[in-house]
Amino acid sequence: PDAEITLTVNGASHRLAVPATAPLLAVLRNDLHLNGSKYGCGLGQCGACTVLIDGIAARACTIPAGSVAGRSIVTLEGLSKDDRLDPVQEAFVAEQAAQCGYCLNGMIMALKALTLREVAPDEEMIREALRYNLCRCGTHLEILAAARRACG
Ligand code: FES
Repeated sequence: PDAEITLTVNGASHRLAVPATAPLLAVLRNDLHLNGSKYGCGLGQCGACTVLIDGIAARACTIPAGSVAGRSIVTLEGLSKDDRLDPVQEAFVAEQAAQCGYCLNGMIMALKALTLREVAPDEEMIREALRYNLCRCGTHLEILAAARRACG
């Protein structure tokens, strides 16, 4: 049976009826049509589905939507303000840091979380923040360049 939950996503409150065990990623994509978060592995291993929960990077594919009711959820769509990209997004555009681009949601959200908790992240912090985000195209050098630009 579905459960009634209220999710706060990108500053907006949504009352939803979803299966109690539905992953947050499925609710974001299928019910709220926020497709920035990607389905990669569904196992919490690739990072493609990363969102911010209370400012901390989290893997939406393994989190039951019902467990984050009342928390502040931010997706990729919530980063831009007044039609301006977030500085982390700008850095990825400037460095052209995409091959297929499927991993970039996770890279950007992981870095956003880093910039929220550290004023001037160093190389070690950047690498640690991205360590468990997979890019199958092997665009890591461009991604690191974008990350340095975003954190510089
Ligand atoms: Fe969530 Fe891979 S889809 S970590």
